[in-house]
Amino acid sequence: MRLQISTWPEIEEYLKSSTGVIVPIGSTEQHGPTGLVGTDAITAEEIAWEAGKRAGILVAPTFNVGSAQHHMGFPGTMTLRPSTMIAAITDWVLSLAHHGFTRIYFLNGHGGNVAPIATAFADIYARRALDNADESFRMMQRNWYELPRAEKLYGELYPVGGGSHATAAELAVTFAAYPEKEDTRQLDPKIAPVGTITDKHHYREQFPDGRIGSDPSQARAEHGRQLIDVAADDLVKEVQAFFAG
Ligand code: NI
Repeated sequence: MRLQISTWPEIEEYLKSSTGVIVPIGSTEQHGPTGLVGTDAITAEEIAWEAGKRAGILVAPTFNVGSAQHHMGFPGTMTLRPSTMIAAITDWVLSLAHHGFTRIYFLNGHGGNVAPIATAFADIYARRALDNADESFRMMQRNWYELPRAEKLYGELYPVGGGSHATAAELAVTFAAYPEKEDTRQLDPKIAPVGTITDKHHYREQFPDGRIGSDPSQARAEHGRQLIDVAADDLVKEVQAFFAG
């Protein structure tokens, strides 16, 4: 069930049986020469939507621009400053809480978002403590690629060149969603270099085509369908336990 494809009476009805919601959160940033700029948002929302469909869980709009300053050397990338992102997440969560949601689960597709999400949670908990809010209220975040069966499956699919940015697994999920965008070109070098990141200049010097450690020519839409299937299954279990806790 998707919030944006619902009416307000439908949301009112949903709240009678559940006060939990999933928020997919990603980024709008380069994913190498063959990956979509929206990859991190598309992966999170595809898995969240599938879990939502299977178990009748409400899925909020996708928070689809994240913390991506280090990718700004590549056209199309958009970034929020961490301070802006923390403020925006806080307002999203407080809006949902205003209507009675008490369990907010962020399904994340981008490593650079982890720290701003955690800081936003700390800010929201502090506001609630200072306001003497009394009901039980919890938030959690999870990177979709750390859901146990998804992590296991992409390790099996891509034992070499899975990578850490523009990964074969994340591209496969986007190709499942948008099969006309499947691109299995061989890139040079076949497996991208690895290293550390500071700013956009440093990033582009070290990783000239945008990839880190990956060989995304291995990504197939069919793999993406398998990854969505097992990730959605894990997600339903984890979210149901979180909502009930
Ligand atoms: Ni990514």
